[in-house]
Amino acid sequence: MLKRKDLLGLLDTSAEEICEILDTADKMREWLEGKDKKADLLSGKSLITLFYENSTRTRTSFELAGKYLGANEVNISVATSSVQKGETLIDTGKTLDSMKIDFIAIRHPMAGAPKLLAENVKASVINGGDGMNEHPTQALLDMLAIRRKFGKIKGLKVAILGDIKHSRVAKSNLFGLKKLGAEVYMYSPETLMPKAIEKLGAHVAKSREEAIEGADAVMGLRIQLERQHGGLFPSLSEYSRFYGVKDNLLKLAKPNAVILHPGPVNRGVELTASLIDGDSSEICEQVTCGLSVRMALLKLLAEYREKNL
Ligand code: CP
Repeated sequence: MLKRKDLLGLLDTSAEEICEILDTADKMREWLEGKDKKADLLSGKSLITLFYENSTRTRTSFELAGKYLGANEVNISVATSSVQKGETLIDTGKTLDSMKIDFIAIRHPMAGAPKLLAENVKASVINGGDGMNEHPTQALLDMLAIRRKFGKIKGLKVAILGDIKHSRVAKSNLFGLKKLGAEVYMYSPETLMPKAIEKLGAHVAKSREEAIEGADAVMGLRIQLERQHGGLFPSLSEYSRFYGVKDNLLKLAKPNAVILHPGPVNRGVELTASLIDGDSSEICEQVTCGLSVRMALLKLLAEYREKNL
């Protein structure tokens, strides 16, 4: 049983809660293989998706998760909403709350925006990514994909390469994977590696080889051009040459190692096209796990609301 109204990050989510979400998501993942994707677990509940940044995977999977489980689902198009007239996040939240909704999945460019919203609404708030802070459902889906492949997370080596500094995915994965007993190695240009990441439990590798050697999972992270103001690395082609994951580097990992990427991917920059499309790639499975995780979360939060609110 989750012990929370909202899911804002994995830093403050316990290992037991993470395992409960993954166990429930595992069942949802099996259910998704069936022909009929209609259940009534969330019948009579309402989910709003409120995305202040672009998204394909996260927003669509929240919407489908709600629909598959029988909830009413509405997407707020921020570009055409009253946000454009200057409405504050709290006022938007209170307006939605007044419509007696149950869940808000939010993505926002400012770190902490989902927390601020959660403190001001009765609905359960799920963080779909806030600035450079956290992206908890992405890390949960990454962990589900890894756990389904290897049957465990404890004792695995996960290498994360790319733009660590701007990555909420890297931070949520670090928190979640460490709680479940994995070792997390990170590698990026020095300018894209936050100074305090080691204090949070990451091993900072000195080379791609050190990060990837003996790894069970190798995750490339997108270079976030929209959060950079230039000068952090010379060019995309040089980034690819010196920091990208190439086919020969994967040979250093365990023989059954998997390739992961949260998407959207800059093909040929973070990972070669042959790794993205190759036999080791779990990138499409990550997307299916994302739907499963979001279905699981909505179910578990609905149970919490039923008992506690
Ligand atoms: N991984 C991820 O958050 O993808 P979207 O930006 O498409 O939601």
